[in-house]
Amino acid sequence: MQTLAGKKILLGIGGGIAAYKCADLTRRLIERGAEVQVVMTRAAKEFITPLTMQAVSGKPVSDSLLDPAAEASMGHIELAKWADLILLAPATADLIARIASGMGNDLLTTLVLASDAPIAVSPAMNQQMYRNQATQENIATLQKRGMHIWGPASGEQACGDIGPGRMLEPMQLVEECEQFWADKPLKGLSVLITAGPTRESIDPVRYISNHSSGKMGFALAQAAVQLGASTNLVAGPVSLDTPVGVNRVDVASALEMHNTVMQYAPSHDIFISCAAVADYRPESIAEQKIKKKDSNEHMTISMVKNPDIVASVANMTDARPYTVGFAAETQDVAHYARSKLTNKNLDMICANDVSIEGQGFNSNNNAVTLYWKEGEQSLTLASKQKIAQQILMCIAERISS
Ligand code: C5P
Repeated sequence: MQTLAGKKILLGIGGGIAAYKCADLTRRLIERGAEVQVVMTRAAKEFITPLTMQAVSGKPVSDSLLDPAAEASMGHIELAKWADLILLAPATADLIARIASGMGNDLLTTLVLASDAPIAVSPAMNQQMYRNQATQENIATLQKRGMHIWGPASGEQACGDIGPGRMLEPMQLVEECEQFWADKPLKGLSVLITAGPTRESIDPVRYISNHSSGKMGFALAQAAVQLGASTNLVAGPVSLDTPVGVNRVDVASALEMHNTVMQYAPSHDIFISCAAVADYRPESIAEQKIKKKDSNEHMTISMVKNPDIVASVANMTDARPYTVGFAAETQDVAHYARSKLTNKNLDMICANDVSIEGQGFNSNNNAVTLYWKEGEQSLTLASKQKIAQQILMCIAERISS
């Protein structure tokens, strides 16, 4: 599909090993109808040749600010005005630092300064360089200036390290471009999402919790931003990176989550309760670590019920957001989901059958059925990112209908 028909993308390639992926990236963009003009830094040419990039883009590659022939055909200011989007991929720590400090010491940085086109930055570097405070501050600066930060992914790196700093794969960058120009049905709306488990303390060192990974809630937060919403994420204890553009508040217990949500909910249009909230908490938290006693073969912890967060929001009388819950069931999914929809006074419920392997808790995939008063929609097994997008699209349709 020509999803990028007529879009003019200036692909700025920095000097990192991921530059070799730019040939494939260019082909994929062109396949979808985009026009791609490649600009390379001096270092980028050490990783992939201008000839390769010229062959795949079908245009001469620009790489020098001081080349009279290039300036005569399409000058740098003209090039800066030509672009609908400047995509910097791979954006090395050095390229990011030069842009953050407003330098124009080569063609690519000069174009960034001279263009009013939106700019997307796809960081790619060693994980330690990425984590370095200087790089983090530079990326935050670019974000503050309204640049889009696409990635990086985490994983194995060319240098053998493992961690964040891998450039997104070409197809992921293509999808980011498609998303960038896609309709933004949640533009102007605010979304509040809970994710992950809660931790219910027993004493200073012990707690009761569950296996929720938080992946579905984080995918929802990422998709909400991509669809144009301003997004707040209230997260239980999980080890996941915050999606770019999402404002995250960390909490531990159900009571903390409840307080935070009740404080935020009235200023939001949509609330999605994806967290696996503990139904009960120990009645009291021991001040000191509870000691094992040789004489005690059993111990009993008295538990009290936690507030139902999603029901509390759904029953707000003022400024009530459109309220969506989740239901993890192991049998008779439709029946239990529909009764939760009614009992909790929800607008929609996303139900999944967690007895099926490969979906739900801790998995990267999910399949859910959405129920609302007058209808339902089944979303077949797909990545949690895809499912998240579909859930939010369905919410957007319901809200506008
Ligand atoms: O009743 P059940 O726990 O199955 O309902 C699941 C839904 O309720 C989820 O959306 C979950 O986030 C929410 N929930 C809540 N507060 C609780 C328990 C569940 O918000 N204490």
